[in-house]
Amino acid sequence: HEIDATQHNADKGEFKHYMLKEIYEQPDAVARTIEMALDNNETSKLRDDFLQRYETQLAGIRHVQILACGTSYHSGLVAKYWFESLIRVPCSVEVASEFRYRNPVVVDNCLVICISQSGETADTLSALRDIQKQTPAGLVSLALCNVPTSSLVRETDIFLPTLAGPEIGVASTKAFTTQLAALMLLVLKVGVIQQRVTGERLTTLIGELQQLPGQLYASLNLDAPIKTMSEHFEDKKSCLFLGRGLQFPIALEGALKLKEISYIHAEGYAAGELKHGPLALVDKDMPIVVLAPKDSMFDKLKANMQEVHARHGELFVFASEASQMVAEDRLHVVYVPEVCEVLAPIVYSVPVQLLSYHVAVMRGTDVDQPRNLAKSVTVE
Ligand code: G6P
Repeated sequence: HEIDATQHNADKGEFKHYMLKEIYEQPDAVARTIEMALDNNETSKLRDDFLQRYETQLAGIRHVQILACGTSYHSGLVAKYWFESLIRVPCSVEVASEFRYRNPVVVDNCLVICISQSGETADTLSALRDIQKQTPAGLVSLALCNVPTSSLVRETDIFLPTLAGPEIGVASTKAFTTQLAALMLLVLKVGVIQQRVTGERLTTLIGELQQLPGQLYASLNLDAPIKTMSEHFEDKKSCLFLGRGLQFPIALEGALKLKEISYIHAEGYAAGELKHGPLALVDKDMPIVVLAPKDSMFDKLKANMQEVHARHGELFVFASEASQMVAEDRLHVVYVPEVCEVLAPIVYSVPVQLLSYHVAVMRGTDVDQPRNLAKSVTVE
């Protein structure tokens, strides 16, 4: 796993921007990451050597605390749903810059997961060091990181790599989806060790993970229709991203991507919260992007979309064909490849990345180096 994101040796090849190249690298990056734990010939269990040295430590954990910033924080939010719904291990997620200053309680037998592309983010490192100083019993620290030589990796007990390869674009893309893939592997590993996921359920999840690179690859076909969709955003001042359940963090991530590189104000919202505020903003000038796979939350989400449509909002929906959503006036639909509910946040990341990319290109911003932002924030 000798991949060093500090060596800016990657070249853009046929792509106009690093960001686009990195979006397109996701099927391979995720496939590499998954291979850490999955053997192509073995469909019913994780590889024996995956995190093998840490099995005793992981067997003892009763709580998970995730710390991260920016895009990495959003992958942590998805992992919270997975830890709790799939293996019933309580999980808290917090931005490191808040956690470190509020004198938080760290319970015993806690697995602290620091998620960071660079492994050098000052707030994430400080939050980790503060916990280590408290010396709670049974503390296990894990770095989910793209840079093996980073400070974060040196200062934690366990290193779980994302095998994304160097990420140059300031707006994170392949680091995010590989973080998600690695987090799912970790959830399964803890679940297996603690016998919280077994038998057919495990086999099903492994089978679904193996399909993921292919689904990501298929989602790149959305590039052309999303480029067309992006024309509606060029002159907009503000935009709302909606999702529910596992798609809520992707709504947050979609909004972050759009504001980072296109400089359009964007907010991600849990669709169930619409009536508690954002509905007041809805008019014909504010595009509303909706992440709408046909999952257990779809009917509720559909009702949320109707509320917006009735108030003359213009909807841009990423949906599964199975949802039978059809375009009409002020309703644009792009079908995303079929994917199981649990892994859908990984696949639905691609259309929101492509959307913000095309909007930014159209607005003529510096896509790879947006104003005022840095790839790695090593100061407070
Ligand atoms: C900066 C970058 C973001 C990144 C965040 C956290 O703000 O511009 O893309 O998500 O830092 O970085 P990390 O390296 O800790 O994941």
